[in-house]
Amino acid sequence: MKLLLLGSGGREHALAWKITQSSKVEKLYIAPGNAGTREVGENVAIKADDFNAIKQFVLENKVDMVVVGPEDPLVKGVYDFFRDDEALKSIPVIGPSKAGAVLEGSKEFAKGFMQRHNIPTAGYKSITAENLEEGLSFLETLEAPYVLKADGLCAGKGVLILPTLEEAKKELKEMLGGMFGSASATVVIEEFLSGIECSVFVLTDGKNYKILPEAKDYKRIGEGDKGLNTGGMGSVSPVPFANAEWMKKVEDRIIRPTVEGLADEGIDYKGFIFFGLINVKGEPMVIEYNVRMGDPETESVMLRIKSDLVDLLEGVAEGNLDRRVLEIDPRSAVCVMLVSGGYPEAYDKGFPMSGIEDAKAGGSIIFHAGTAVKNGQIVTAGGRVIAVSSYGANKEEALAMSFKNAGKIQFEKKYFRSDIGFDL
Ligand code: AMP
Ligand code: GLY
Repeated sequence: MKLLLLGSGGREHALAWKITQSSKVEKLYIAPGNAGTREVGENVAIKADDFNAIKQFVLENKVDMVVVGPEDPLVKGVYDFFRDDEALKSIPVIGPSKAGAVLEGSKEFAKGFMQRHNIPTAGYKSITAENLEEGLSFLETLEAPYVLKADGLCAGKGVLILPTLEEAKKELKEMLGGMFGSASATVVIEEFLSGIECSVFVLTDGKNYKILPEAKDYKRIGEGDKGLNTGGMGSVSPVPFANAEWMKKVEDRIIRPTVEGLADEGIDYKGFIFFGLINVKGEPMVIEYNVRMGDPETESVMLRIKSDLVDLLEGVAEGNLDRRVLEIDPRSAVCVMLVSGGYPEAYDKGFPMSGIEDAKAGGSIIFHAGTAVKNGQIVTAGGRVIAVSSYGANKEEALAMSFKNAGKIQFEKKYFRSDIGFDL
């Protein structure tokens, strides 16, 4: 088979690494990819949301399947674009339809969906400029801290958690006034939930599903989970509290009702579902849905999938996922993200990198996130630069290997968190 993977981050390098281990794959293209994905496939200079260029490439190169990494092309309707095009409709796209991608694209829709299907989540109210007064009174019924979420996509920046009622009221007005443009024309006010978070991933063909290894990611820039939110500084799989008993609750109360709810509402969904969960006194609740794999969770989750991922993706496309096998590696897998100094605020890029081969020789699997090639040299090209992933008999062993190899990779102003996994 010939596959085309859309995206360019660490998640896509990890997916590409896993996809090319399949004996079913004759060729993997990545659009646009990064300096790492060209080690496992062929990068093509097409943006992940340039549907017309993707169409031309897919037809010219006889691509058999398209796998979508990031949410953006899904929210813009890449699945529907293929489904509704005479020349493309026989080529499966792994990812939900536009109607399904709204689970991530609109917090208001996601909350309504959970309410309709009795899926445990924080209490909420959806507010626009028209019912601002209702929002202000709802805030008064809640206890601090206060959670405000822009309805639309804001590159992970649309959630504010505020310590006082005064700040919450002020920020609510500012969000509705255009703080995040049209994405915050509607704001979801939520009850604050306290607990440890866990990311659970499912692959579904719309009827059947397979539960992939869960992971915990570390969002804050500083050690001890302090400082600004980032795209993710590292991940650990498995998550100790996600034991069989807890995962049964997740499956019965959250996963099955979600997959059945999508089908009941006539929403075409063949792809990954990412359940952002929180463990509230032993009970799993949904913080958010994403319609793709997590980043940097994928950089540890892919290590724990023993089966052929492409066989599973074929099961998704053909609607017979129940007949495919998912075998999970019992070892631990972790990832430690190396980032550009300054990130998630302003940072410089274009710094030459060295030591990547030494880190591989030291036993880690290296996934590129923000890298590029300049005059034959690998240079930094983003905030999150490289993921150092490792296996271990337990998380301590895996982390020790990642930290050791993280030290071998050099670039100016390199930073990483050396406390990934500290809370588990
Ligand atoms: P989201 O974009 O919905 O994942 O929110 C970003 C982060 O804000 C989450 O990963 C949580 O850490 C936090 N958060 C979101 N909603 C809540 C909530 N209802 N209670 C507590 N923390 C939350
Ligand atoms: N790691 C969180 C995300 O991918 O959204």
